Amino acid sequence: MLNRECLGCHAGPAAPGGLSLESAARLRSGGRHGPLFTPARGAESLLVRYLTGAMQPQMPPGKPLSLETIAVMRRWIDEGAVVDTFRTPGETGGILRGALPQSTRRRGPAAGVRSARRTSLPAPVRQSAPATALALAPDGRQLAVGGYRSVRLLDPNTGTVVETLSGPADQVLGLTWSPDGKHLAAAGGISGVGGEVCIWEGSGTGHWAAPRHLQEHSDSIQAITWRPGHRQFATAALDRTVRLWDADTGKVLRTLTDHVDAVWGVAYSVDGRWIASASGDRTAKLYNAATGRKVASLAHAEAVTALTFSPKGDLLVTAAADRQVRVWPVREGPIENPLRSRSEEEPVNALAFSADGAAFAWGASNRRVRLWSGDVQQQTRELRDAEDWLYAITLSSTATQVFAAGADGRVYCWETATGRLLWKK
Ligand code: HEC
Repeated sequence: MLNRECLGCHAGPAAPGGLSLESAARLRSGGRHGPLFTPARGAESLLVRYLTGAMQPQMPPGKPLSLETIAVMRRWIDEGAVVDTFRTPGETGGILRGALPQSTRRRGPAAGVRSARRTSLPAPVRQSAPATALALAPDGRQLAVGGYRSVRLLDPNTGTVVETLSGPADQVLGLTWSPDGKHLAAAGGISGVGGEVCIWEGSGTGHWAAPRHLQEHSDSIQAITWRPGHRQFATAALDRTVRLWDADTGKVLRTLTDHVDAVWGVAYSVDGRWIASASGDRTAKLYNAATGRKVASLAHAEAVTALTFSPKGDLLVTAAADRQVRVWPVREGPIENPLRSRSEEEPVNALAFSADGAAFAWGASNRRVRLWSGDVQQQTRELRDAEDWLYAITLSSTATQVFAAGADGRVYCWETATGRLLWKK
């Protein structure tokens, strides 16, 4: 994040505010106002206060970061401000520059941790990693949950962990099952460094072979989705591209480069005919999946962060940092206006339809889950049990249960008919 959002200005001998972010040591020593943070004290740190605008001018100037990103920075300081995502925090060359750690390339991501530099300052508050992705297996018998470098497989009836798989580098931000349930793919990567996809092949009886690791994106991957009816999947990344992959060969078939900012979401229509992407450039784009030709550009007032198609394929729903959720018609040719808009008090981070199309749900930063009729006309229920920002949501195929997960790492399961919380883990 620092590399992407700050280094353009905060580098070199005349860095503004006397603050250079070119190395981990420079980051620690801070600028004109002294050190940017004391480990374990994120909320009161200069860094966080400049990001929220409590200290002026707000950073980055004219382009405030999302609340989620600021929360990640705060939390990183609370946990001790350890720089552990790259090999040697050298004094030159940018704190997050360079290739993925060699160890990650050869043996999978866990090895990179060893380079962590410990601090002798106050003991950091240890928090569980956020749960940032959810995907229910096509047969509904396993719920995959993406966390820090790992994927947990839960029994959806009880929330009990059945198995834990070692995932891609850093936070797992996307998860997708192949329609036959034989493959599970997880995506993540290191911000400013590179994206990574892990694909497991299973026998269906809980035996997963060691995953394949694919690395083509030059920045972390935010979303991944299988193409229905094909042995292909698509990824969306901070490097501004969407890539379409052949799942058998691991080769990129096509790269979509229409966005001019980070891409946060990608979705296929159930008939595999359309693909759509959501971007920080304030648009969602709709493409013909077979040709990669862009069909429409759908506008929001701020970054578009999530999107999904209705199972019938007639609607595309987008959510943006402007707190709006928009429902668009899906068709060839110009699409100027949404059919309808819904709004939330805080950004909506995750959207889902049930496979039968009967229900739609979202999860937001105000900890709410809202359930809607399948045409997103009527709100049917509001669920308030979650204790932290919600980042991921999914519904069982006939909408009998809704699952959500978020910043505190907890996963929730409600019965949709009654709104009763069935379990929380
Ligand atoms: C477009 C250029 C630009 C970008 C991008 C930018 N800054 Fe700044 N930053 C400035 C300028 C100019 C100042 C001096 C402001 C002043 O005091 O008038 C500053 C000052 C600061 C200070 C105060 C330092 C001190 O001790 O006075 C902090 C902290 C800071 N920036 C953090 C960040 C962070 C973190 C980012 C990325 C998230 C960022 N900035 C991105 C231009 C930028």
